[in-house]
Amino acid sequence: MRSGVCLYPGSFDPVTLGHMDIIRRAAKVFEKVYVGVLINPEKKGSFTNEERVDLLKRACADLSNVEIVSFTGLTAELCRKLDIRVLVRGLRGGDDLTSEMRMAKINAQLLPGLETVFLGASSGMEAVSSSLVREIASFGGDISALVPKEICQEIQNRFKRS
Ligand code: COA
Repeated sequence: MRSGVCLYPGSFDPVTLGHMDIIRRAAKVFEKVYVGVLINPEKKGSFTNEERVDLLKRACADLSNVEIVSFTGLTAELCRKLDIRVLVRGLRGGDDLTSEMRMAKINAQLLPGLETVFLGASSGMEAVSSSLVREIASFGGDISALVPKEICQEIQNRFKRS
């Protein structure tokens, strides 16, 4: 039985299988999952905002209850706007726990009643990160075990050295 609506926010530069692990599992628990792509004008990512949204849309195409949205500003403000009271975040280990607890507290202060639900990374996903994907791809390494297969080639092409 699924219940309620949640938001899974992040930078997704680019989306990895680690993110997909969290999105797929959240989609089984919640009726509707919004994936919020943070647009940070101060931070130039490897992929443009439009590209990050597009890669996520393609990776989530088979998930009918997942919607990709982009946002600027505070995550809590997006929750207020969409009337969301649950944030989902992934935990890969102790380092994530410390920073995520802090973020959950700040978000609950910004929007009282906003709860953060943590999903522990599935086995094999603990070491996956977007920067790891970017680093391996930039040296021409194989990233197929780290990113969704639908978008693997596109990510690889981006980092091809001429
Ligand atoms: N699997 C794989 N990788 C994961 C992961 C998972 N389950 N969870 C996080 N990561 C990785 C990301 O790939 C990224 O890796 P990188 O640093 O190597 O590139 C890193 O962990 C952090 O990614 P992400 O989860 O996207 O967090 P973020 O720090 O980019 O974004 C926001 C966090 C967007 C939720 C937060 O910054 C935010 O809410 N910003 C809006 C402003 C705001 O509201 N501030 C107040 C709240 S603190």
